[in-house]
Amino acid sequence: MPEKPDYPELEAARLNWRFTPADSCLAAKVILVTGASDGIGRALAKTYATFGAHVVLLGRTRAKLEVVFDWITTHTRTEPVIVPCELAALDEESGYALRDAIDDSFGRLDGIVHNASILGPKVPIAHYPAQQWQQVLQVNAFAPFLLTQVLLPVLEKSPNASIVMISSSVGRKGRAYWGAYAVSKFALEGLTEVLADEHSHAGKIRINSLNPGGTRTAMRRAAYPAEDPATLPNPEDRLDVALYLMTDSAIGVTGERFDARSWDGPVDDGKSEQ
Ligand SMILES: NC(=O)c1ccc[n+]([C@@H]2O[C@H](COP(=O)([O-])OP(=O)(O)OC[C@H]3O[C@@H](n4cnc5c(N)ncnc54)[C@H](OP(=O)(O)O)[C@@H]3O)[C@@H](O)[C@H]2O)c1
Repeated sequence: MPEKPDYPELEAARLNWRFTPADSCLAAKVILVTGASDGIGRALAKTYATFGAHVVLLGRTRAKLEVVFDWITTHTRTEPVIVPCELAALDEESGYALRDAIDDSFGRLDGIVHNASILGPKVPIAHYPAQQWQQVLQVNAFAPFLLTQVLLPVLEKSPNASIVMISSSVGRKGRAYWGAYAVSKFALEGLTEVLADEHSHAGKIRINSLNPGGTRTAMRRAAYPAEDPATLPNPEDRLDVALYLMTDSAIGVTGERFDARSWDGPVDDGKSEQ
């Protein structure tokens, strides 16, 4: 690692990763992470910065984003940027402002992880409050569509860019009471397939979906209040897939569904073949 940052969770997780990243595998890449203030998004932001990326930290709570910003500036030589943004209120105007700010600061964008998401109520469809249905779809599915659309011009300035849609097992097989959350993840899976097909010929932008699997975060606690969090992996434990997808090792990998729990590592990685 470039700086030996004080990041014990990452150091421990790396021992079991199925991908062996070079310390500077993301050197100077510019990556936008939504929901970078907590949970999996915070771990992604810190990990990407540790491996050399300049991370655009998007989230709705400035104070929490500042904690991640401070960690990154203290522990790495990268230049993070904070973008406070309520995705429930995202519109074209704020999207264009973000695109221009990224273009002015970095001149390109090499990756996006659409990670921010809300759970919504876990109730049967018969009783699902319509307004909350709309809000979940807005944050989890409409915002990733709009952000991707407005940011395509800066992604196209990258020699090879990567978009990762953070999905869920209920976005691949629906289950009772997961309501709008499940439907929003099906939408992300669809967006992944359509976009990947549209960009398959040009080959400069790859788009994949990733199911992180049950992970020790606030969202998981809300979804399974009776579960003992100690039985769950840390966000860093399975970040190898999300890291791999941002590296040049994944150039050409597009339109695929990844599952962090069952991933065997990249086919050409020496470690995975042992
Ligand atoms: N944890 C799991 O077991 C699990 C399993 C499968 C899939 N996932 C997926 O993994 C991703 C991350 O989940 P997580 O467990 O890390 O969730 P989390 O701990 O609840 O964190 C969610 C992040 O998204 C941000 N966010 C939420 N609503 C937002 C909005 N309206 N505008 C801007 N930012 C918003 C939050 O910001 P604040 O901190 O300001 O609230 C936070 O940074 C999600 O897409 C989730 O669906 C998680």
